[in-house]
Amino acid sequence: MVPNVGVRAKWKVWRDRRGRVSPLRAVVLAGLFAPFAKAVYDAAAIAGGARPINDLIHRAGFWALVFLGLTLAVTPFRRILRFNALLDVRRMLGIGAFCYIAAHLALFVADQRYSIAAALHEITHRVYLVIGALAWLGLAALAATSTDGMVRRLGGMRWRRLHQIIYAIALLGLIHYFQQTKADVTVPIFAAGLFLWLVGYRLAAWQQGGGDLSALKLLALAVAVSVLTFAGEAIGLGLAFHVSPLRVLTATLDFSAGIRPGWQVLGAGLCVVVVDVVRSYWARRTQQAGARTIAAE
Ligand code: HEM
Repeated sequence: MVPNVGVRAKWKVWRDRRGRVSPLRAVVLAGLFAPFAKAVYDAAAIAGGARPINDLIHRAGFWALVFLGLTLAVTPFRRILRFNALLDVRRMLGIGAFCYIAAHLALFVADQRYSIAAALHEITHRVYLVIGALAWLGLAALAATSTDGMVRRLGGMRWRRLHQIIYAIALLGLIHYFQQTKADVTVPIFAAGLFLWLVGYRLAAWQQGGGDLSALKLLALAVAVSVLTFAGEAIGLGLAFHVSPLRVLTATLDFSAGIRPGWQVLGAGLCVVVVDVVRSYWARRTQQAGARTIAAE
């Protein structure tokens, strides 16, 4: 018997539209809960720390950005992995990002002794918080329009156009991340490099009029993003510490300073190229085997 679509309880998000348990949805749901579960597991250590609420604010903000990045990664990766089912979890990831960002703001208000007036005063007096608040409002708008009903009401085209602001939101989130980082900017630079890759992929796909990017284009993208990440780090740190960007660049290229984000982004980009090559080889072989079977029948 085919399960009735309308009967599926909306909160049972691990089930697909037909009401069947979806292993992919279940895995993504578990992943979305994992940072929360880890915070519960670390509760004693967090409570014993110097600023427990601030610790939670950082955890929630970090994971919101990660899930936002994963939401953006669905389109390129469904193509590269030839795995269209990934589209089915994009909304879940986006809503997950919003839940973490809602917790981020709620914790911020809690840190202001639960005073909304004090929170608003803080937000309007610090540039990094204004930027965070703009990103927050953008994410809230996307979450509010993510239901099937809203997609129908807005119409596919207008809905897609509205949801393109996710790139601007991620950019604001990254700027906010950089601004609040006091010491080591390695992780924010790496995150910015990955974001550049995601934007670069979209631009390259749009420029060629849609469709999959060839392995060669993915390779060029990996190299270009790595170069930009190195340049960004050299210029950014050069300006911040009043030293020559060339000196910073020489230091970042040298492995004795550790594996800097430019290298990390290159490594990630090259992994994508390898996955693409293996996946296209596999797809070709499956196609050929299918053609041979049909010919033999
Ligand atoms: C009204 C909105 C927001 C407020 C009031 C807010 C507030 C804060 C505060 C107080 C911190 C810690 C700063 C410190 O310890 O000095 C923080 C960190 C952070 N926030 Fe936000 N934020 C907002 C929106 C956002 C949004 C929309 C994102 C992402 C899309 C985001 C991502 C982050 C990240 C990644 C961190 C650093 C986490 C880490 O250290 O690993 N925030 N935010």
